[in-house]
Amino acid sequence: MTNFQVKTYDEYQQAYQRSLEDPESFWSDIASTFTWRKKWNTTLEWNFEEPDVKWFKGGKLNITENCLDRHLKTRGNKLALIWEPNDPKERFVRYTYRELHEKVCQFANVLKKNGVQKGDRVCIYMPMIPELAFAVLACARIGAIHSVIFAGFSAVSMADRINDAGAKMVLTSDGLNRGAKQIPVKRVVDEALETCPTIEKVIVVERLGWAVNMVEGRDVWYHDEVKDVSKECPAEIMDAEDMLFILYTSGSTGKPKGVVHTCGGYMVYAEYSFRNVFQYEESDIYWCTADIGWITGHTYLLYGPLLAGATTLMFEGVPTYPDMGRFWQVCDKFGVTIFYTAPTAIRSLMGGDIDDVLSYSLDSLRVLGSVGEPINEEAWHWYHTHVGKERCPVVDTWWQTETGGIMISTLANVTPMKPSHATLPLPGVHPILVDSDGKEITENGVEGHLCIKHPWPSMIRTTYGDHERCRLSYFSTYKGLYFTGDGAKRDENGLYRIIGRVDDVINVSGHRFGTAEIEEAINHNNHVIESAVVGFPHDVKGQGIYAFVICKDKPENEEWLRAEIIETVVEKIGKIARPDKIQIVSGLPKTRSGKIMRRILRKVAEGDVSNLGDTSTLLDPAVVDEIVEGSLSKAKV
Ligand code: WTA
Repeated sequence: MTNFQVKTYDEYQQAYQRSLEDPESFWSDIASTFTWRKKWNTTLEWNFEEPDVKWFKGGKLNITENCLDRHLKTRGNKLALIWEPNDPKERFVRYTYRELHEKVCQFANVLKKNGVQKGDRVCIYMPMIPELAFAVLACARIGAIHSVIFAGFSAVSMADRINDAGAKMVLTSDGLNRGAKQIPVKRVVDEALETCPTIEKVIVVERLGWAVNMVEGRDVWYHDEVKDVSKECPAEIMDAEDMLFILYTSGSTGKPKGVVHTCGGYMVYAEYSFRNVFQYEESDIYWCTADIGWITGHTYLLYGPLLAGATTLMFEGVPTYPDMGRFWQVCDKFGVTIFYTAPTAIRSLMGGDIDDVLSYSLDSLRVLGSVGEPINEEAWHWYHTHVGKERCPVVDTWWQTETGGIMISTLANVTPMKPSHATLPLPGVHPILVDSDGKEITENGVEGHLCIKHPWPSMIRTTYGDHERCRLSYFSTYKGLYFTGDGAKRDENGLYRIIGRVDDVINVSGHRFGTAEIEEAINHNNHVIESAVVGFPHDVKGQGIYAFVICKDKPENEEWLRAEIIETVVEKIGKIARPDKIQIVSGLPKTRSGKIMRRILRKVAEGDVSNLGDTSTLLDPAVVDEIVEGSLSKAKV
């Protein structure tokens, strides 16, 4: 079972070499350690032109049999899930593998009873409570395709996703806790569903005990439905290439796209990468702080650890509630051994009193992880020194919603570690750097666009309902390659450092937004004619959102207008996409062909206006002076 976990640098190099020479036998051996109802006929069929990628074709399986059933004999009484509530005074809850199996089967039976069938899409808009984990696995159990929507998105965003997926059902809760706040989740769902004709049923899990609006014939309470269902539910047999889930993520153009992952390849890569990166051991208590609404929560809170038979911790709250020591208090409380979080969380905690971390022992920790955005050296050292006591390796894991699992990362205590560097690819992953003409750069000590040369099992298969968009977004920029959208450096020793996006995507606190998506939201405001959004360096969030906005009339009160624009963005996307700065301008720097020169706006947003480069190709160069002046003189939000 664990024969694919490399334990030494030598083993890493051998595995890597083998994966280059014979990728199919490499992956086929790993896949053989899983429970399949029927073995696959071909390990891999692929071309990156269409693209068309099939792993383990002809294989039949159910991922939940691998997450749950196969552990029952040997780990039935082992803890599978520990749930820590938002309020430290509320009691935590634990589920053994046997109990989790029962909960998932019950939830699956509730779904069936309410009409969900194999292939149906189910949207999940829920807080971080155990029922969210049950719900996701219950969908997988019966072959329904889950699409989890982070519960911070607005009703408009939710409706867009539901309609794109053509979902039949929404799973939600009455409300949610986030730190000191309580948020009426069901009300957001009700608003979204006004424009979602495909939804037939809504199942509501009680969290806060609030009285909520229940629509007759559409809405039912989970606790009523679960009363008399069986604790057994046979797993639906799925093809390896059947869809497992859709997860929406932002790109540089248009609305968020539904990234599609399939059952077999995703399963194999989730456990493989989980074990290797964190160097998992049977006795570990593993905590990934990501919300299940993001890919990190899918692969490394839920599927990866459960496939490995690990104990995974799920936390409802936020790092700063009731105080800045909450993460460390929870680590001590449960004896967490592997801790995986995002740079933005580390940076926000660094700003607090050092005693908030030093007053906890953190003795149990042995591996620390980072994900979602580049981790700056200061945050890396703080994490390594004060949390890891210089004893724990920090694995900086680079990957994407589209890659399904970690692609480039230190393997804890096995491969080299270097601050702010994701370092080396996992065996089976073949990254390359290309120059702007798409030519591979083979030397070290270089910088380029990061591409992947060969398929890996958990890669994106399509964008839901629009395969051409998948091709255009990832496979058309450089022929024959998967293009990540990231820029990267490779140092003299061949270690990768991810610099960040080279497309029009902003990474705010590890969450992706397309500039076009935010502009479209801003333009919905009645006073706005046009806008241009760029990212700028932000101490805590990594990148902040800076919006340049042209208004119809000179606003009477700029403060009010800014507040109104923010409200529009919150309504269209959600609080997480609030612009940090809004500058009202009379024009935007456009070329004669009408293209906005974002390079100039980025410089202004960074506060670096000394050298704006060549502005002679602009339609109206004077507009730049006005923007620069405005950026320096006016107080912004
Ligand atoms: C960025 C999150 C630097 C990158 C798993 C990527 C990172 C985008 C790292 C994907 C890292 C993620 N170092 N940058 N360790 N991890 N990124 O889809 O720009 O939410 O393209 O997946 O986050 O974000 P996504």
